[in-house]
Amino acid sequence: MYKILKAEKLADKIFLMDVHAPRVASHCQPGQFVIVKMDEKGERIPLTICDYDREAGTITIVVQEVGASTTKMGELKEGDSFRDFTGPLGCASEFVYEDMESLKKKKMLFVAGGVGAAPVYPQVKWLHEHGIDADVIVGSKTKDMLILESEMKEVAGNYYPCTDDGSYGHAGMVTTMVEELVNEGKHYDVCVAIGPMIMMKFVCLLTKKLEIPTIVSMNPIMVDGTGMCGACRLQVGDEIKFACVDGPEFDGHLVDFDQAMKRSQMYKTKEGRAMLKLQE
Ligand code: FES
Repeated sequence: MYKILKAEKLADKIFLMDVHAPRVASHCQPGQFVIVKMDEKGERIPLTICDYDREAGTITIVVQEVGASTTKMGELKEGDSFRDFTGPLGCASEFVYEDMESLKKKKMLFVAGGVGAAPVYPQVKWLHEHGIDADVIVGSKTKDMLILESEMKEVAGNYYPCTDDGSYGHAGMVTTMVEELVNEGKHYDVCVAIGPMIMMKFVCLLTKKLEIPTIVSMNPIMVDGTGMCGACRLQVGDEIKFACVDGPEFDGHLVDFDQAMKRSQMYKTKEGRAMLKLQE
């Protein structure tokens, strides 16, 4: 059993949990994920690692209530436990293996949308700990939905919040913020975009035009995280990949987002039926 040491509500339907999982904490790297199961018959839920403390043996996860299982997970309290907490899974972010000297010369831009701030945070933190301060744009619908702001500010070079309704920071989409920074004369060698599929698609269309190589995390389309359900199958250039086995990070300019979104819609219908059952 994996005990929840802290459970905190970050925003409406978004929760943070610190889970005692020393083996996962001792091996994980930014970009990787875990699969959690609440009980023996529970659904396997893949969640990107938001933070880790190797000494304390804890992993931080952020959960958004989007279906039946995640809604049940949102009800868990401090002291409750997960039946399974498997990981670290997936490949770590590429920069973890890069030569430090060449990495230090790169100017990196992170673009997070909604709960995408959770997987972006450990990457920006890792870079900060290695003497590299990346710029970070975080977008949300409203100010209240913005998560991990103080944590992100601590590790980012520059932090640019954006809200759709203009209630805080830059008013508008993250893409307009990217354009604004580039028009101001900022130069970026790499962009990492993590968030809703539609956001990643439009960030990639823009960065392709701006000629900024872009990495995306295809975590949103994962269902069981084992390479067996097929939900995360996607076209990357002329290759077929599975986000949970080959990723979750890919060259965003090669990903066929329209096909991936169509596929995840099919699985949403299944999840929608499970949600109705939960409400009966
Ligand atoms: Fe099921 Fe990857 S999430 S195959």
